[in-house]
Amino acid sequence: MELPRGKSYIRIDQVSQEDIDKLIARVNSCSWRQTFHIQPVSGLLNDPNGFCFYHGEYHLYYQWHPLGPFHGLKYWYHTKSIDLVNWTNVGIAIKPDEYFDSHGAYSGSAVEHNGNLYLLYTGNTRDENLERHPYLCIALMDDDGNIIKSKKSVLDKVPAGYTEHFRDPKLWKEDDKFYAVIGAQRTDKTGCVCLLSSSDLLEWNFEGELATNLDHFGFMWECPDYFEMENKGILVFSPQGLDSIGDLYQNIYQAGYVLGEKVDLKRRVLTHGSFIELDRGFDFYAPHTMKDPSGRRLMVAWMGLPEIEYPSDINGWANCLTIMRDLSLRDGKLIQKPVSELQSLRKNKVEAEDEITDEKKMYEGISGVTYELICEFEQRDALEYGIEFRAGAEEKTVIKYDAAQGKIIMDRTLSGKVIGSKYGTVRKCQIVGDVRRFHLFVDSSSVEIFVDDGEEAFTARIFPEIRSQDIRFYATGGTAAFKAVKWDY
Ligand code: FRU
Repeated sequence: MELPRGKSYIRIDQVSQEDIDKLIARVNSCSWRQTFHIQPVSGLLNDPNGFCFYHGEYHLYYQWHPLGPFHGLKYWYHTKSIDLVNWTNVGIAIKPDEYFDSHGAYSGSAVEHNGNLYLLYTGNTRDENLERHPYLCIALMDDDGNIIKSKKSVLDKVPAGYTEHFRDPKLWKEDDKFYAVIGAQRTDKTGCVCLLSSSDLLEWNFEGELATNLDHFGFMWECPDYFEMENKGILVFSPQGLDSIGDLYQNIYQAGYVLGEKVDLKRRVLTHGSFIELDRGFDFYAPHTMKDPSGRRLMVAWMGLPEIEYPSDINGWANCLTIMRDLSLRDGKLIQKPVSELQSLRKNKVEAEDEITDEKKMYEGISGVTYELICEFEQRDALEYGIEFRAGAEEKTVIKYDAAQGKIIMDRTLSGKVIGSKYGTVRKCQIVGDVRRFHLFVDSSSVEIFVDDGEEAFTARIFPEIRSQDIRFYATGGTAAFKAVKWDY
C-alpha cells in the first residue's frame, strides 16, 4: 500500500485489512527492525506521550501514524511494561475521531486521579483552508484499560497573544491542584511555554505565560516538561529555530533543559541558568519524563527528528523511542543513566583488556549487532582514543575522545545509509578532564552512548549492513589502556 502524502489524513479504518497486512509484511522484512527499542508495528512513530505508572504497570503512549513513514493522521498508541525493558503493544489508545481532534490526536501527558488515568492531549484540527486550530482534550483510561474520551474539549481557543502553535500539555499535581505547561508560539513568532491550571482536570484555566530569560529563543517550543529534583526546578523543552553555534544546536531542532529555582506558580516565573542540550548526538527529540513509585525521574525521547527522512522509510516504517534514562543531578547538571533494569537483557559476557599504542585492535568474541558495551579508557599519552563499531570493510560508526580539542566526537559519516546529511555527519561536545567511560547500547539501527556515567549522552540512528559487526579499539599519537566488557542483547 502506498498512500499519497496529500491523503495523509486517512484513518486506519478506511484502509482494508489486506493492505495493512501487506504493509506490516514489508515492515517485518526490514533488517533494521530494532530488537530492544519501542518501535511502531508499521508507519511512523514520533513523540512519547503519557508516560506514567498506573495500577502496577508502566504505561507509555506515543504519536503514531499507522499507514506509512510520514506525519499523517496521528493516533496515540499504547504500550505497557512492568520492567521498563519488555514492552507489550496494547494497541490504539486515542483515535482522532471528534471535531476537536479530527486531524490528529497530538501530544500530551497523563496523571492519575480518583483511580483513573487522565490523558490530557492536543486535538489538532484544520479548517477548509488547512488552517490549524488546536484544542486541549481529555480522555481517561479506566481500570480495565478502556479509554473514554470526553465529548467536549477542555480549552477550545488559543489565548490572545499566541498563534495556532499551542500544544503538548505536560501535567503535574501540586497541593491538590493540577498544572500543565504547554508549548506555544507568540504572535511575534517566538517560542515560549504557558501555564494552565485545573482543580478537577475537566475545567482548565489559562494562567498565562511562564516567564523565563529566553525571550528570543527559536520560533516554537514543543513538548515542554516541568519537574523538580532536589529543590530545583527543571524545564525541558524542544525549541525549534535555533541557529547552530560552534558544536551546539547542530540538528534541525533541539531538545534540552534549563535548571533553576523551583517555579514560582503565583508569579509564573522560572529563574534559571543557560539552556543545555540533553543529547549531543543526532536523533533525539521531544523528551518526556515521569516519576516512578521508587522516586526515580525517568526520561524517554523520540529517537528521531521532524522533517528528516530515514532509510527504513522504504520498508514502510520510521523511528523508535530511546531506552529509558534515569535522571539525577550532579553539580547543577542533569545526569542521564540507562535504567538498571536493562541489565536483565545481558547475555554472553565477554571481556578484553589491553594497552594499545598507535594501533587499532579487535578481540575474540567482541563483535556484534545488538549489544551493551562498557569500555573504560586510561589515556596515558595518546592524542586520541576511541571505538569503531558496527564496522566492516567500508562502514564504521565512531565514538572517540580527542585530547587536543578536549572533545568527545561521534562520527556517523561511514555508518551506512545516509541520514539528514544536510545537518552534518559529525557531532562534538567539549568535556572537562579526560574521558574515561563509554557505555554503548547498540541495536540493529541505533546507538545510545553514555559518557562518564551519564555526564553526556550521544544518540544516533545508524543504518549499516548487517555484516558490519566489528568492534575495534584504537589509540593514536601514543598509548591508551582500556578494559571492555560486552554483553549480547
Ligand atoms: C513534536 C510534535 C508535537 C505535536 C506532535 C504531532 O514532534 O510536532 O508538537 O504534538 O509532534 O505528532
